[in-house]
Amino acid sequence: MSRPVRVLVTGAGGQVGRDLVDTLQGIAVPGADPEFWPDDHPVERDEFEVVGLTRHELDVTDRGDVVRAMTVVRPDVIVHLAAYTAVDRAETDADTCYAVNARGTETMVLGARASGAHLVAVSTDYVFDGEKGAPYVEDDLAKPLSVYGASKWAGEQYCGPEDSVVRTSWVMGVRGRNVAHVIAERADQGATVRFVDDQVGTVTVAADLARALVTLVRARPGGVWHVANSGEATWFEVARHVGECRGRHDGFATAIRTDQLDPAPLARRPRRSDLATDRWRERGWAALPPWREGVARLVADRSRGSVA
Ligand SMILES: NC(=O)c1ccc[n+]([C@@H]2O[C@H](COP(=O)([O-])OP(=O)(O)OC[C@H]3O[C@@H](n4cnc5c(N)ncnc54)[C@H](OP(=O)(O)O)[C@@H]3O)[C@@H](O)[C@H]2O)c1
Repeated sequence: MSRPVRVLVTGAGGQVGRDLVDTLQGIAVPGADPEFWPDDHPVERDEFEVVGLTRHELDVTDRGDVVRAMTVVRPDVIVHLAAYTAVDRAETDADTCYAVNARGTETMVLGARASGAHLVAVSTDYVFDGEKGAPYVEDDLAKPLSVYGASKWAGEQYCGPEDSVVRTSWVMGVRGRNVAHVIAERADQGATVRFVDDQVGTVTVAADLARALVTLVRARPGGVWHVANSGEATWFEVARHVGECRGRHDGFATAIRTDQLDPAPLARRPRRSDLATDRWRERGWAALPPWREGVARLVADRSRGSVA
């Protein structure tokens, strides 16, 4: 019998990290669709040996940490999720953001080369400026508007064709603080929300993304891959849908424009950065479920008390 594939996950304490580590171990993840496996194969017992490292266990800005992790774990595949993800704070903290997202990724690439592991590095739709006027494909020109987007694009450029770069967007997990929870809380409190309807993107449910990452861990394809749930949305549509999932209908969510946000966010965001996932489907992998279905699962599992 072949030995388990050894997978090292960076940023394992984050919302995607937690879902990925559990998924690779065959542990049920809140918000997951039990039927959805992009390559039609559920994780088998002992298929993977997973070492998920949080920031305290592996700081990707510390080359010594990375070298030690490679020596001890000797991974077959690295899924690099660790990132500075505070998009607005990054505007006034660019050095830290670049240290983690750009040079931290460079260090992981060097670690992957030294250990012979395949690297799956996760990036963002914010590498695009949103002015294309159509869904972004993998080969479109990156032109980030924010420090965060620029730092992730810099990180991508350290990767080679042998690495798999996954661009995802608007990620929401049952576990982890994100906008879906904020909206659900407001809905449950009887409050109302205002969200912009002039930013279009693709929602990604962390549990679905985790299963897509399992597919990439198995296939180790190399190249750039866009991964998100199906269908595009505005933030207003997301808010309205979360409200409906909590039984709040007319009057819960109000649409506003980005220039009406008060205070104005520090970081500029793309107006339209929805990700086209044709390359994924043409490879023969199932599209991620429609975003409304994924968000409904997430909200339902959240209210069942699965939030940790
Ligand atoms: N969330 C989104 O909407 C979104 C959209 C597109 C792409 N992505 C990408 O998806 C990936 C996963 O994001 P996520 O949503 O899971 O974000 P997250 O919840 O913020 O997780 C990121 C993790 O990275 C850790 N981290 C920060 N600095 C680190 C360092 N120097 N060394 C090691 N770990 C460090 C964080 O630890 P601390 O909590 O201790 O800081 C956190 O646990 C990231 O690459 C992100 O850029 C996310």
